[in-house]
Amino acid sequence: MIRRRADAGSTALPVDYDRDPERFAANQAATSRFCIAGDVHGPVAERLASTATPPVLDLGGGDGTLARLLVPLGMRTVVLDQAAYVERAPRPAVRADAHRLPFTEGSFGAVAALWMLYHLGDPLLALSDIARVLRPGGTFVACTSSRFNDPELASALPEWGRPFSFDAETAPTLVSNVFDVVEVQRWDAPMVTLPDQRAVGLFLRGRGLSPQQARQGAERFTTPLTVTKRGTLIWARRR
Ligand SMILES: C[S@@+](CC[C@H](N)C(=O)[O-])C[C@H]1O[C@@H](n2cnc3c(N)ncnc32)[C@H](O)[C@@H]1O
Repeated sequence: MIRRRADAGSTALPVDYDRDPERFAANQAATSRFCIAGDVHGPVAERLASTATPPVLDLGGGDGTLARLLVPLGMRTVVLDQAAYVERAPRPAVRADAHRLPFTEGSFGAVAALWMLYHLGDPLLALSDIARVLRPGGTFVACTSSRFNDPELASALPEWGRPFSFDAETAPTLVSNVFDVVEVQRWDAPMVTLPDQRAVGLFLRGRGLSPQQARQGAERFTTPLTVTKRGTLIWARRR
């Protein structure tokens, strides 16, 4: 097996969910208000419910967005996250580190890792542990952004274009080191319209700028501003 890592010089995206909860709240608010396509959780929940077997592990599942959709569809779901807000997720919810999964081999019929593997320095290690807790033939689904996401805002985003540990450019190859990749869905389309500078500020705050940087950064842009979203959703199967 050729072990393909993320690109040389790539780094994990910083974790700020306990330190700066308003940043992630801004990200969620900007997505729900200004993105015409919404997030991936609805389609992912529907496909898991129709093609996978429970229980599902939602890795880095936050406060339970995916679990809240899966449980009514009959998919028992365990949420694992290291941030304190996992306590708000539907039970069972576990506060733990994705690097060391506290489950025995073959515990799950499916594992989801939505918008989270980019926080890990070595996603391949986590992928191997995910394979351990999945049953043979079980489903794995992950999504991530492109390093070239939101190009219209590049001038305000200091890290724009830099590779990160699990980005859309390398993620399918990384997943294929451990799983059989079934489908890679990519998007590269104008999906966000920011009507005014306040909206641009909220969006930049969600992308990791401080409140002051986001406010000042927003002043550089003419509105309404259309923003191109680039990312990928990967469906795979345990060998
Ligand atoms: C962008 S949020 C995504 C949350 C959720 N999956 C969603 O789609 O809404 C990333 C989540 O990964 C969690 N996370 C990051 N590193 C982690 C780790 N090493 N172990 C467990 N959770 C982690 C964070 O606490 C955060 O809740």
